[in-house]
Amino acid sequence: RARVVVLLSGTGSLCAALLEATDDPGYPADVVAVVSDRDAPGLEHARRRGLPTATCRLRDFPDRAAWDRALADVIAAHHPDLVVSAGFMKIVGPAVLERYEGRLVNTHPALLPAFPGAHAVRDALGAGAEVTGSTVHLVDAGVDTGPVLAQREVPVLPGDDEDRLHERIKAVERTLLMETVARLVTGTTEESPR
Ligand code: GAR
Repeated sequence: RARVVVLLSGTGSLCAALLEATDDPGYPADVVAVVSDRDAPGLEHARRRGLPTATCRLRDFPDRAAWDRALADVIAAHHPDLVVSAGFMKIVGPAVLERYEGRLVNTHPALLPAFPGAHAVRDALGAGAEVTGSTVHLVDAGVDTGPVLAQREVPVLPGDDEDRLHERIKAVERTLLMETVARLVTGTTEESPR
């Protein structure tokens, strides 16, 4: 099974879903470590399973480049085949990209290229979008600009606020991420491998 390192900053519901997927003996990947940039509640999902966690805080380093190099080292210590950014709210730098470009995927709560950035759900609501969704894409040096691997739509419903819409998007993201990770590590090209 392929080795996956998850990066997160928040509650980690996507990481939890991926961990649950790995309980299926037929799933082609294992989460081998979870790394955060802060004391994120999501690290608990890993701790509960006895998986290694690490925290790499920007403020503990003299500058962003040093933080980026440390983050790359922390990830590399777990020898991942694939790195999954699941609600990691920092832009990774050149040290991480050099090692993992093409093997680093991000999940984003909008239909990229629409609504990139840290407030995708709020921005979609503010723009009056009728449909938004979830995108899983490869990470490149830009902000949410890398090649799209999979997308799924989520309708905006009357009365939606940011939380409600985000929860519905996350429900879709969990499945899309799990499927896309499986597809990537098995090298299949269809959107639904299982
Ligand atoms: C997800 O919606 C993910 O797409 C988003 O953060 C949420 C994490 O949820 N990521 C971004 O907005 C990245 N720019 P979780 O902490 O419950 O897994």
